[in-house]
Order: sequence, then structure tokens, then C-alpha cells
Amino acid sequence: MATAAKKSSAQTSAKNKSTTTKARPKKGSRTSRRTATASKRPKDAIALLKADHKEVDAMFKAFEKTDDDAEKQELAKQICQALTVHAQIEEEIFYPAAYDAFDEEGDDLVDEAQVEHASAKALIAEIEAMTVGEPLFDAKVKVLGEYIKHHVEEEEKEMFPECREAGMDLKALGEQLAARKAELTASLAA
Ligand SMILES: [Fe+2]
Ligand SMILES: [Fe+2]
Repeated sequence: MATAAKKSSAQTSAKNKSTTTKARPKKGSRTSRRTATASKRPKDAIALLKADHKEVDAMFKAFEKTDDDAEKQELAKQICQALTVHAQIEEEIFYPAAYDAFDEEGDDLVDEAQVEHASAKALIAEIEAMTVGEPLFDAKVKVLGEYIKHHVEEEEKEMFPECREAGMDLKALGEQLAARKAELTASLAA
């Protein structure tokens, strides 16, 4: 018994020792966890918005390519939802920050963007009320795609460079945008 107890205690101690010895490699793994976290860290505001633009552009392209009605209906739904969330986070968080940072000339860019959002939203509402196969369904999605393409070009080529120049806190804004996007996406899925 005593021997067994001793053995067990020796095992425990060996176990502890090995845990202690493993402390070094663990340090390394903490570092790799940190690196993994870093890569998952929210993108800065411009990177996040550009990623959204790219994602929706791919959906428009998929819509153009397919002849399958069910797929078209699903893609149209996804496009409308993605654009609704994207427009809302821009209007709630990004555009107000841009107004704050910009001079009058810059403000005109944001004014234009807001007007474009309003028109896009009207078209989105029409598409959401329609079913694939109805007259003008495909045309409305196509026009929305062209419309968004133009809007995205203005944001990426004119507004975003202005944001960098104006020294906006893009990292903090990126975190806010990501948090709000997650919230809105979850409420749409519910
Ligand atoms: Fe926009
Ligand atoms: Fe945008």
C-alpha cells in the first residue's frame, strides 16, 4: 500500500513536473493563439466595407450566371439583406464619422452617397416584394447591381481615400461596424 501510495505520489510529482516542463512550449502556443486572434481581429473600417462590396459583387455575378429560379430567388434575397445591413452600418456609423472628419467638399461626397442609398433601398424594397419569374424581376436585380457598382466605385475611389487623408480612426470604426453588422445580421436571421 505504502509503495503504491509512494508510486502514485511519484507519478503525481512527475505529472506536475512534466506540466511545469511543458510551460515553455505553452508560452509558444499562447503566442500562436495571440497570432490567430490577431488575424481574426476586426478589419479596419475601409477593409470591412470593401470586403462587403466584394461579397455582394460576387452575389450579383452569380445571379447573372444562373438560370435556376430557386437559386435566383435565394441570391436576390441574400443580395437585398447584405445591402440592407451594409447601408445601415454605413449610415449609422461610417457616414456620420465622415461628416465629422470632412470639410465641406468632403461632405458633398457623403450627401451623394446618402441619396444613392435611398434610391438603392427603394429598389431593394421592390425586389423583396417580388417573386422570381415576375416581369422585371431580373431587370430590377440587374439595375440594382449596376447602381451599386457605381456607388461602390465612388466610395472606394473618392470617399475612402478622403477618409484616410482626414485621419479618421478607422480601427475603432471598424470595430463598431463589425459589432453592429453582427447584430443586424443576427436579427435578420432570427
Ligand atoms: Fe454606401
Ligand atoms: Fe459601401
